[in-house]
Amino acid sequence: MKVVVARTLPAAGLQKLTERFDVEVGGLPFDRQWLYEHAAGAHAIVADPTVPVQRDLLDRAGDQLKVVSNFAVGFDNIDTEAVRERGLRATNTPNVLTNATAELAVALMQAAGRRIVETDGIFRRGEWVGWEPEQFLGRELSGATVGLVGFGRIGQRVAELLTGFEVELVFTDAQPMDEAAARHGAQRLDLDELLAVSDYVSLHVNLTPETKHMVNAETLARCKPGAILVNTCRGSVVDTAALVDALKNGPLAAAGLDVYENEPAVPEDLVQLPNTVLVPHVGSATRATRDAMATLCADNVIAVLSGEDPPTPVV
Ligand code: DGY
Repeated sequence: MKVVVARTLPAAGLQKLTERFDVEVGGLPFDRQWLYEHAAGAHAIVADPTVPVQRDLLDRAGDQLKVVSNFAVGFDNIDTEAVRERGLRATNTPNVLTNATAELAVALMQAAGRRIVETDGIFRRGEWVGWEPEQFLGRELSGATVGLVGFGRIGQRVAELLTGFEVELVFTDAQPMDEAAARHGAQRLDLDELLAVSDYVSLHVNLTPETKHMVNAETLARCKPGAILVNTCRGSVVDTAALVDALKNGPLAAAGLDVYENEPAVPEDLVQLPNTVLVPHVGSATRATRDAMATLCADNVIAVLSGEDPPTPVV
């Protein structure tokens, strides 16, 4: 059977696939034309967040196609409705990247709160004039109210990691999450209430039509003055122009971002702001996590092509 890897897959997963299937790998950078040519006759397509999987690609693959296996927990790049209509499976890689992503969210909170990148730049440019009593003042996590927008696996892991900081935890979620709320001592609020009380706001939702630009000029205006926004989910959850304005003119003090609306492009406005910490979509970027994602991604393909239920289906 033929498996088409749209770009690349770490060896931990690729080897499992090549041992069993006829595997074709598109390589980097992504070549859409290559994918369209090679998808024809594929039984499985391995995609990732940068690979749009729409009706035309599924049609191009043909009737033998069984599964689209995404090398990511997010699957907003896949037209799941089209997958469902065709009776195919789509899978993702949850759980294995929960900790890595949550750790990055906490790192961004601290980097933005304590002005790590801004002051590192000042130091490296030789602009530091020596210690001063009120220089480079930041904000501590301890004692802060942290608002988790989305209280799924990653949001809850952030809550766990913050235990030692003794923060006040509040969250929003479409589900009541009563058990998790009690376990983490977190209070469920609606988004407006959360924004009004949170010193740190960390985003952990899937990108859907409902969550696209859920952080916009209107919602940002409800943030507590001096709040810090952290985004490790998807760039399009935030309206970038509104974010830049809130960072320039308030109410936000800073932002720590791992994801952007039109990756890999990042608006120059954001880059020029001293109160942003910007990293290039590295939430899951540790050797152990990427290997575990690749293994799970391959296991999903193997299961479906063996006529079994995949370990982590989204359709
Ligand atoms: C995901 O898994 O959705 C991330 O964006 C990449 O790890």
